[in-house]
Amino acid sequence: MTNEDIEHLSAMLKARSGLILGSDKTYLIESRLAPVARKEGFSSVSALLTALRTKRDEKLMAMVTDAMTTNETFFFRDKVPFDQFKSDVLPALAKTRLNGEIKIWCAACSTGQEPYSLAMLMEESRAQFPRVNLDILATDISDRCLEKAQSGLYTQFEVQRGLPITMMVKNFEKVDEMWRISPKMRQSIRFKKLNLLDDLRGIGRMDVIYCRNVLIYFDLETKKKVLEQMAQLLPDDGYLFLGAAETVLGITDAFKPMPGMRGLYIKNQAVKTEAARRLA
Ligand SMILES: C[S@@+](CC[C@H](N)C(=O)[O-])C[C@H]1O[C@@H](n2cnc3c(N)ncnc32)[C@H](O)[C@@H]1O
Repeated sequence: MTNEDIEHLSAMLKARSGLILGSDKTYLIESRLAPVARKEGFSSVSALLTALRTKRDEKLMAMVTDAMTTNETFFFRDKVPFDQFKSDVLPALAKTRLNGEIKIWCAACSTGQEPYSLAMLMEESRAQFPRVNLDILATDISDRCLEKAQSGLYTQFEVQRGLPITMMVKNFEKVDEMWRISPKMRQSIRFKKLNLLDDLRGIGRMDVIYCRNVLIYFDLETKKKVLEQMAQLLPDDGYLFLGAAETVLGITDAFKPMPGMRGLYIKNQAVKTEAARRLA
């Protein structure tokens, strides 16, 4: 793999998905792109990268971008963001959303475990909040992930990661070697392809945004841009959940951490963000 090929790939990935390739890039590129090279009939990853650089093949660029995304996820990942939703966010919003509708956006949903966890959690809380309806929008840049999320089909390993057994029994059925989440859960989520680098205003107002474990792959400028656009979608009493390794601190003043709640952020009313100034 030549330096020229790697530099071209890095620039393409940054422009198309925001991904910044780390220092371990040769290994990562080899392992992620070997299956694409094989599938597309290239003799090696190097040959694939050269073709990527010399031909403007949109289909190949999209396949490579998708293959380079990290899609690690599991049900109730990190537990805390779901506990906080149940104990604090849901009761607070249920009080103020008089029509009972709470709009949630999972902004990088990967293969769907995050939005399905929220839908199952709501079902568990039904007796306590009989009038509340979660309107869940789940988006990702990866067609491959969205296809799997929409199918609702998971392996034995995937349903054993993080999902309480009672919820599994209640919400999944066995289909050959796989487990399929119920049609009711599948129908409760709107899955849609969306690139976080794009203009996000089309998303509309959201009460809660889960943007977890995706900003870590972006540079500071991109993180700032995404977060400030998200602040515009949230009302003053909205909530933002970030991943355990992510923060707004040192990136933007649009949000501030919710005291005592790790990973949970609220809007910082005191500061008018650059994005707000531009839209005003
Ligand atoms: C590590 S997964 C996180 C999944 C889930 N939020 C969680 O925390 O378990 C990161 C996801 O971000 C998606 N992603 C990467 N860049 C993106 C972009 N520019 N726009 C939208 N999604 C993106 C990837 O396709 C991947 O599915």
